[in-house]
Amino acid sequence: MPAIRAIYPGTFDPPTNGHLDVVTRGARLFDSLVVAVLKNSSKGKPLFTTEERAEMLTEITAPIGNVTVATFDGLLVDFARQQSATAVIRGIRAVSDYEYEFQMAMMNRHLDPNLETVFLQPAEQYTYVSSRLIKGVFQLGGDISTLVPPVVMKRLHAKTPAALTTPESGAST
Ligand code: PNS
Repeated sequence: MPAIRAIYPGTFDPPTNGHLDVVTRGARLFDSLVVAVLKNSSKGKPLFTTEERAEMLTEITAPIGNVTVATFDGLLVDFARQQSATAVIRGIRAVSDYEYEFQMAMMNRHLDPNLETVFLQPAEQYTYVSSRLIKGVFQLGGDISTLVPPVVMKRLHAKTPAALTTPESGAST
């Protein structure tokens, strides 16, 4: 049987314990998993640079042997082809995520019928966690320390208050 490689794409601004949970589940299912950070998101200016997000993901996924971290621009299907990946992983927290995820999966299938999207459900305790909420609650002084890895907590604390108030749009996983 040929080894199967999957891509887990996202904005990861910042990575959360929910993302890490999905990475862990995906790494168990596939021979190798590439966590792919989108460089130029349509969601507006991210809080963390692409490099910062990739560094945090590299650190938190290091204990998982078959996971690598990369960055990409342009179409996901093109990046998947470059990586010889045949599957895309996306996390679904609630039914409300499904409509957008289904549309993306179908568009990616239209663009590349050989690329299969696999939806994974994160652990129940992370079903309400999103990068957008993490940033908002942190900025207002709320305790999110059990919802993000320690390196993310450290990097959030290192951001200036001005950086944290940068306006953003759209939901983020
Ligand atoms: O974490 P996010 O922001 O929900 O991730 C969205 C992401 C990166 C998976 C999506 O925006 C994406 O794949 N962008 C790359 C551009 C692309 O391929 N668009 C066509 C698919 S709809």
